[in-house]
Amino acid sequence: MLITGGTGTLAALTARHLAVTGRARQLLLVSRSGPAAAGAAAVAAGIAEAGAEARVTVADVTDRAAVAGLLAGLPQACPLTGVVHTAGSSTTASSVR
Ligand SMILES: NC(=O)c1ccc[n+]([C@@H]2O[C@H](COP(=O)([O-])OP(=O)(O)OC[C@H]3O[C@@H](n4cnc5c(N)ncnc54)[C@H](OP(=O)(O)O)[C@@H]3O)[C@@H](O)[C@H]2O)c1
Repeated sequence: MLITGGTGTLAALTARHLAVTGRARQLLLVSRSGPAAAGAAAVAAGIAEAGAEARVTVADVTDRAAVAGLLAGLPQACPLTGVVHTAGSSTTASSVR
């Protein structure tokens, strides 16, 4: 499962939900900041505790070539099963992690 905006508030909530409910065992969380984003490691750790695996990576989803490269790089053992698109900008500060 690919989650765009993967280091944001909605992505963290969605990823945790998918992991806890067993609806996704492998999650790819994508944002421009990637692993450098505040809270990214904590979100991945929480997903691991729920028995799933989260990989945090860098891509700008407005960049067609970057997205194509991202999809082309998915391991054959982990084919794309779905996309949750949360990438965006909020007008208010995020507080849920
Ligand atoms: N939170 C809510 O309750 C709520 C409710 C309704 C609607 N929304 C909308 O839903 C969207 C996400 O909300 P949020 O609260 O999760 O926001 P957020 O916490 O600011 O997270 C946004 C995420 O999107 C990433 N992002 C932004 N542009 C990107 C791009 N071009 N490519 C890849 N990643 C990108 C950001 O990381 P980088 O900047 O590092 O790329 C960040 O990880 C926003 O548009 C917001 O307005 C939110």
